[in-house]
Amino acid sequence: MSAPTPSPYLARRARIAAAMRDAGGGIAVVPTAPERQRNSDNDHPYRHGSDFHYLTSFAEPGSWLVIGSDGRTTLVCRPKDVERELWDGIRLGPDAAPAALGVDDAVALDRLDETMVERLADQPAVWWSFDTPGLGARIDGWLERLRSKSRMGVEAPGVQHDLAPLLAAMRVRKDAGEIETMRRAAAISAAAHVRAMRFCAARFGADPRAAIPEYEIEAELLHEFRRSGAEGPAYTSIVAAGANACILHYTPGATPLKAGELCLVDAGCEVDGYASDVTRTFPADGRFGAAQRELYDLVEAAQAAAVAATKPGARLRDAHAAAVRVLAQGMLDTGLLDRNAVGDVDAVIASAAYRKFYMHGTGHWLGRDVHDVGDYQSAHEPPVEQPDWLGGTVVKKPSRKLEPGMVVTIEPGLYVRPAEGVPERYWNIGIRIEDDALVTENGCDLISRGVPVAAAEIEALMRV
Ligand code: GLY
Ligand code: MN
Ligand code: MN
Repeated sequence: MSAPTPSPYLARRARIAAAMRDAGGGIAVVPTAPERQRNSDNDHPYRHGSDFHYLTSFAEPGSWLVIGSDGRTTLVCRPKDVERELWDGIRLGPDAAPAALGVDDAVALDRLDETMVERLADQPAVWWSFDTPGLGARIDGWLERLRSKSRMGVEAPGVQHDLAPLLAAMRVRKDAGEIETMRRAAAISAAAHVRAMRFCAARFGADPRAAIPEYEIEAELLHEFRRSGAEGPAYTSIVAAGANACILHYTPGATPLKAGELCLVDAGCEVDGYASDVTRTFPADGRFGAAQRELYDLVEAAQAAAVAATKPGARLRDAHAAAVRVLAQGMLDTGLLDRNAVGDVDAVIASAAYRKFYMHGTGHWLGRDVHDVGDYQSAHEPPVEQPDWLGGTVVKKPSRKLEPGMVVTIEPGLYVRPAEGVPERYWNIGIRIEDDALVTENGCDLISRGVPVAAAEIEALMRV
């Protein structure tokens, strides 16, 4: 009989221990996220820390994970408390934690300081994520207490290592279980976008003069997320009617969506701690106008070019370069940019003149965080001269190469504000199309395509 497969959480903790051993040993400490007050005695809904949950599957606040390079793991968690559990819910408690989570031992939160001082004694190094707010001061306190014991022959770690790059390197490549969860999240988000489109189609079908406030469309998205078992949105949803689509971080308000306008929806749910990130832009009443369709097809072509450039061995930035080339050419063809003023497509790219209408990147890592951890530059390659985002060139490390198991978004857009010299027919049109791409052995798999992208397919969906 083969040995049972260890849980992914145990395997991840073992990888951290092994990496620390290879670098001379030590103790790693990973707190979960703090609770956040909203107002008075009312907190924001609790969301665990992504790294902590990645290593434990444990979602209670007030928790810490300690990993030794010898492989010993300790959970620090809230103690059982009959009174508090009546108000806030059942706690796992330290007694049950080893069996439930596979840690070697567990202690109550009020023993955190003495536990850390004990675990750090005579260790060569302490490993922690340097970007964790407030943790540095906490560690300094533990080290100080240890240094005060030097006359007793106890040594404090002399070295601090940043744990964040190690965790990021692990998290950027998703395992089979993570991919399955991310597929579920993307499928639910796609269904929510379909629901929003159908909702608008039905309302304008019943009354062509309808005016649907953005918040009603947002409510359709939230309904689909929750009824499907998602925790909720993975980030603040964008539902932008008409000209509001040209505000990149617009949040849904009460602006009425009217027939003839486009609606841009950027909304994705979180499932079991994993994000999806999906954008569609659709005509309120189910029919693209001529100018809208021209720009929509251009963004769709840019996305197709970026998708083709998203494959193992390609660099993350290749997708952006591919999208920019299509968009820049389209800006010249439509007259958004004046060829006489800005030159040909190569000149538009070199000067970054396209940024007037396309000012953000084409993708980011996606995972537990919507903008997930992971290096964007290749750590092990020397700097090279390359195009700068703002025009011209810059010398820096090349963009990172994609590998199977990585997940990125592909999200080109066009945003046309009214301006002199810009053809009026395009004014106030904002379009973005965003899908979630799992890098596979041969290319990429768009896991959010449960909602159509082609203009004709969106129109067909909104006809029924
Ligand atoms: N929804 C956040 C983003 O697209 O990056
Ligand atoms: Mn995104
Ligand atoms: Mn998005």
